[in-house]
Amino acid sequence: MASSTPNKLEQIEKASQDELTSLQLERLKWSLNHAYNNVEMYRKKFDAAKVHPQDLKSLEDLKHFPYTSKEDLRNTYPFKAFAVPMEQVVRIHASSGTTGKPTVVGYTQNDIDMWATVMARSIRAAGGCASDIVYVVYGYGLFTGGLGAHYGAETLGCTVIPMSGGMTERQVQLIQDFKPDIIMVTPSYCLNLADEFERQGIDPSTCSLRTGMFGAEPWTNAMRKEIEERMGIDAVDLYGLSEVIGPGVAQECIESKDGPTIWEDHFYPEIVDPETGETRADGEHGELIFTSLTKEAMPVIRYRTRDLTRLLPGTARTMRRMDKITGRSDDMMIIRGINVFPSQIEEQILKVPEISPHYQLELTRDGSLDAITVNIELKPGVGSESIHREQASKSLQNFIKSYVGISATVQAHEVGVIPRSQGKAQRVVDKRNL
Ligand code: DLL
Repeated sequence: MASSTPNKLEQIEKASQDELTSLQLERLKWSLNHAYNNVEMYRKKFDAAKVHPQDLKSLEDLKHFPYTSKEDLRNTYPFKAFAVPMEQVVRIHASSGTTGKPTVVGYTQNDIDMWATVMARSIRAAGGCASDIVYVVYGYGLFTGGLGAHYGAETLGCTVIPMSGGMTERQVQLIQDFKPDIIMVTPSYCLNLADEFERQGIDPSTCSLRTGMFGAEPWTNAMRKEIEERMGIDAVDLYGLSEVIGPGVAQECIESKDGPTIWEDHFYPEIVDPETGETRADGEHGELIFTSLTKEAMPVIRYRTRDLTRLLPGTARTMRRMDKITGRSDDMMIIRGINVFPSQIEEQILKVPEISPHYQLELTRDGSLDAITVNIELKPGVGSESIHREQASKSLQNFIKSYVGISATVQAHEVGVIPRSQGKAQRVVDKRNL
């Protein structure tokens, strides 16, 4: 349940490593048993791998248990991954996914309370307190962003403005009138808001906002700097995914801004080699895996997120941190044999002062090789003569060549040509199989 002293850390956030480990072990045993006894998919997978929940004697033993993939969850569509009878499920969400059926997730009342607690903890870690006005731009509906953020903010005692995305012009007016302290929004849509402030002749850094909790899509530290400067706020990283709970799996602490702290009293993280599936030590890069420790309606065991990062020791809290996500294994582009993530291109775009931070990458086939076009816009007011465009494009091309190691075509467009994000931005358009 929610902490009754919302602005103080919960006991577990200050616990010793031993206390945390012993709580995790006890909860992990429960979660494995719960999944095995109540979800056919897990029972079959454990039996096929010849492991039983009783085999787990220490946290390290988790590596003997099979992974769960997005595909496994899709195969249980819609409700077969639920571990409790439907009458105990009080909420359903779904992640849209780009292909195929959505992944459906369910929550008991205890799950909703736990989610609200970790989200409240996240807002507190971002420097929020009960007297704050929280402006939620994450979408409300099947997407977990809006309602997840909302319940967390209410649990902390904040005043919540459940705005959702879209109607950008109106958003600016409401921010001006309601004077929120904290905004919760995707980084790409925040840029859209900043543009709209400027279009209305208002400097966004003069607005009431103090802090932004950004997530739901990858964003670089270069983007953080851009947003912080333009909006005049502290920008911190909020991570989560529907399958694990929604937003609030991990949150960056404002005092350290060194990567999200994983709330590992509820979500146990591991890093594995994305190709071989072998577990990797803390500090090594790989794919992030989560096992839920307390979730009732839909436990997940060794769920493969496809998000690439590494685990780092705790700083502001006992719990471990994750490094900023570099990308998803399925977002990786291979350009003439070189592995490239959109985030690497984003870093280069933000180095060229004349180029705006809105961008989209286009993949095409050039004979038997893949080619990339980086579509960008110059900032308003930079000058629209072709000489400016050529100079900016050339600078970007050179940065990409030197720092990413690939040859890219850069296409500079008129302001407003790149589609503006309404939530999660679509960074890559794949035209290779058209
Ligand atoms: O995006 C939950 C969420 C809502 C998180 C609001 C944060 C804020 P899904 O739609 O299931 O859930 O998408 C989850 O989004 O696996 C990552 O690839 C990506 N993602 C989420 N947060 C971050 C972040 C929500 N802070 C997928 N940095 C995840 C990078 C993120 N990527």
